Amino acid sequence: MQVAILTVSDRGARGEYEDRSGPILAEIIQSKTAWQVSHRAIVPDEKAAIANALIHWCNAGVNLILTSGGTGFSPRDVTPEATKSVIERETPGIAEALRAESLKITRHAMLSRAVAGIRGRTLIINMPGNPKAVRENMDVLLPILPHALELLSEAPDSESQHRQV
Ligand code: MTE
Repeated sequence: MQVAILTVSDRGARGEYEDRSGPILAEIIQSKTAWQVSHRAIVPDEKAAIANALIHWCNAGVNLILTSGGTGFSPRDVTPEATKSVIERETPGIAEALRAESLKITRHAMLSRAVAGIRGRTLIINMPGNPKAVRENMDVLLPILPHALELLSEAPDSESQHRQV
């Protein structure tokens, strides 16, 4: 499985701020899964830049894209809108679970507009930008990700087998 990590941050993209969330996500994937971090990038809070990176990685056959940042209320926060513009099927259960578990830790989780969804065979999941929030979100996600990615990467003809069961 190939995993891509996209940090969305104006200051990070300008080099004014050291990206901490991207490296944390990479470290978690490398230490807690057998998957490979195949792509990483930092883009500014621009809808087109975010959408282009997502589409490019989907076309490259990446199985999972994790984004960090740009999900809040600031006028520049457009990661959910960029993600919605590229996904074909929304996966609301993932976003709901991340918010529900995060609400047990901080009421500020209400302020996350993060979405998750599928484009082709790629699962895309938004996360907040805060490094602590990224760790908390990954604790929720890691147990379900193997099954989610297996289902997505199944051969097309196995879909009909599923329906027969
Ligand atoms: N979720 C978790 N688990 N932990 C957190 O600390 N911070 C919240 C929220 N979700 C937080 C969280 C805050 S303060 C904001 S503003 C929103 O995520 C959006 O964050 P973003 O704008 O960095 O994407």
